Amino acid sequence: MKTIVSIVGARPQFIKAAPVSRALTSHFNEVMIHTGQHYDYEMSDLFFKEMDMRQPDFNLGIGGGTHGAQTGMMLIELEKVMSSVKPDCILVYGDTNSTLAGALTAAKAGTPLAHVEAGLRSYNRAMPEEVNRVLTDHVSTWLFCPTDVAVQNLKKEGIVKGVHQIGDVMYDALLHNLEIAREKSQILARMSLKKGEYALATVHRAGNTDNRNNMQSILDALGSLPTRVIFPVHPRTRKRIEEWELAVNSNVSLIEPLGPLDILQLLENANCILTDSGGMQREAYLLGARCITLREETEWVETVSAGWNSLAGVDAKRIRALYETWKPAGERPLLYGDGRAAEKIVQILVSEII
Ligand code: UD1
Repeated sequence: MKTIVSIVGARPQFIKAAPVSRALTSHFNEVMIHTGQHYDYEMSDLFFKEMDMRQPDFNLGIGGGTHGAQTGMMLIELEKVMSSVKPDCILVYGDTNSTLAGALTAAKAGTPLAHVEAGLRSYNRAMPEEVNRVLTDHVSTWLFCPTDVAVQNLKKEGIVKGVHQIGDVMYDALLHNLEIAREKSQILARMSLKKGEYALATVHRAGNTDNRNNMQSILDALGSLPTRVIFPVHPRTRKRIEEWELAVNSNVSLIEPLGPLDILQLLENANCILTDSGGMQREAYLLGARCITLREETEWVETVSAGWNSLAGVDAKRIRALYETWKPAGERPLLYGDGRAAEKIVQILVSEII
């Protein structure tokens, strides 16, 4: 059997890897490497547990540090593992530092690279994720794009070979996890929440969390909403809020980061999602929840053109005005495939590698 090494490290990658890993099982020997980028129980182990994933074969334990040091250390350790595993293909997801480290490892070793979630662009190079995406795409052998826009973005950069539009593996994951979440998650009861009577917020992008004015402005916006706001706080965001002693109004509940099942339940039942996360923007769309995006641009432009996502940036007045006046369009066209993206990826890899 041929060997595929999958590299994961951050929360959204665990979610995306779950369906792909299930689909790989009968065709490949999959070796999973966790870089350790996310390491808190709620940011990592909880995801493996709730999604019934086996433990990674290797955990490199590289979390924290500057972006350069983090990426560099991952590259050093990944190269060591590759020289013993000798994979036929390396598989990376999304746009994190773990993605870039995996891509560079493959390029240096001359191992074919598959990139899941290829072709996404914000056209904002100040975002570390944008740089990670562009570089990864340019050294990939197979580029698995979730949308037609992503395919077009690659074409503009001269990349056409190995490009496949297969839909979004996040949709596969959502379909799989939603029933389990509805059955198992107790979060609504635990927090005394009723459908439509609260908003859900998340913030973790460096451009928001590492700028004091932006972060305070977002907190002011959330604090001004005429609803309870549930805000599971990413560790980097919590650090900033505490360090800067930012004011948080009492309608905003800052809680620990949540696992994938509780988050789906909160997403499905909220009156509005306010977020800077790419994953939450499309999960909101797929679940029919309106989304106010706390950024000036998005990679998931289809959700905006379909009328379900509104780009608000961080201005408190603009966010509140959107919350109070904006209603999404009724229709939600199928933008992200048919929930079988993982199978399609594996079919393509089988036909080209085996
Ligand atoms: C990373 C990705 C981002 C992705 C996000 C998903 C990069 C450049 N960014 O951002 O694209 O959307 O993951 O959540 O790769 N920390 C903890 N505990 C943890 C994880 C992180 O305390 O379990 C701390 C780190 O020590 C660090 C900060 O949070 O100080 C940021 O973590 P890092 O992994 O560098 O980036 P994220 O903000 O999570």
